[in-house]
Amino acid sequence: MKLAVITGASAGIGAEIARQLLADGWTVHNLSRRPCPVPGVTQHLCDLTEEDSLTQSLPTLEALAERSEQLVLIHNAGLLRKDAVDNLPAEALRQVLEVNVVAPSRLNGALIPKMKAGSGVIYVGSTLGEKAVAGAASYVTSKHATIGLMRATCQDLAGRGIHTACVCPGFTDTEMLRAHVGDEGATAVAAFSAFGRLITPEEIAETVVWAATHPVVNGAVLHANLGQVER
Ligand SMILES: NC(=O)c1ccc[n+]([C@@H]2O[C@H](COP(=O)([O-])OP(=O)(O)OC[C@H]3O[C@@H](n4cnc5c(N)ncnc54)[C@H](OP(=O)(O)O)[C@@H]3O)[C@@H](O)[C@H]2O)c1
Repeated sequence: MKLAVITGASAGIGAEIARQLLADGWTVHNLSRRPCPVPGVTQHLCDLTEEDSLTQSLPTLEALAERSEQLVLIHNAGLLRKDAVDNLPAEALRQVLEVNVVAPSRLNGALIPKMKAGSGVIYVGSTLGEKAVAGAASYVTSKHATIGLMRATCQDLAGRGIHTACVCPGFTDTEMLRAHVGDEGATAVAAFSAFGRLITPEEIAETVVWAATHPVVNGAVLHANLGQVER
């Protein structure tokens, strides 16, 4: 069995990754609060901000991983808050780190020991993993950590035939973007790309699926942003 475990496949980029992997013959399991809309995906409904919620899903996933010939673990779920360094409640920072960094680390700890050679761990980062903008301090901090976790994954798994990469999307037309900048804002940020448009979730999903199945990218940060125009 070729097994794909993905977080945040209930919407946006994650739902499209699930759809593409399923079409390529993978058995797909999703972890999110809402179900993945793609028929054929197995759901593990859980809230990644809550330690116990994820804990309940782990034994089933570990048993599946044990039986799989190849496993791709895709850390896609993300939480984006509006905040700033001088207005960043500790509990809010903790929640963002739980979803964007701690949950991936916990899934790594449970599933990597079961992975066979040929498997992969793919992180969905962000352009904000390597630069900052105002008004998203917790997210910027967490996405820098995502890249650090990916690089540590590459070093710690050397010699085991398991690869990793971090795909960093630019402005992609999903719920997250529209909730953060609004519909008018989405039109405005489209102009920041060298192509003058938003990225589609399908384009990011294709990049993630490609990275998951091409070990040559091991340790790479892959910017998938249509080229951002610097101002
Ligand atoms: N859209 C962009 O412009 C953009 C740019 C750069 C990076 N990214 C990254 O791309 C990834 C996917 O984002 P998206 O744009 O596709 O956003 P989205 O459509 O809002 O999807 C976010 C996903 O994360 C899941 N999630 C959030 N909080 C969760 C929680 N507490 N527990 C479990 N699951 C949770 C959501 O599931 P539930 O709500 O069902 O729980 C949902 O499936 C994220 O890592 C994001 O940071 C997006």
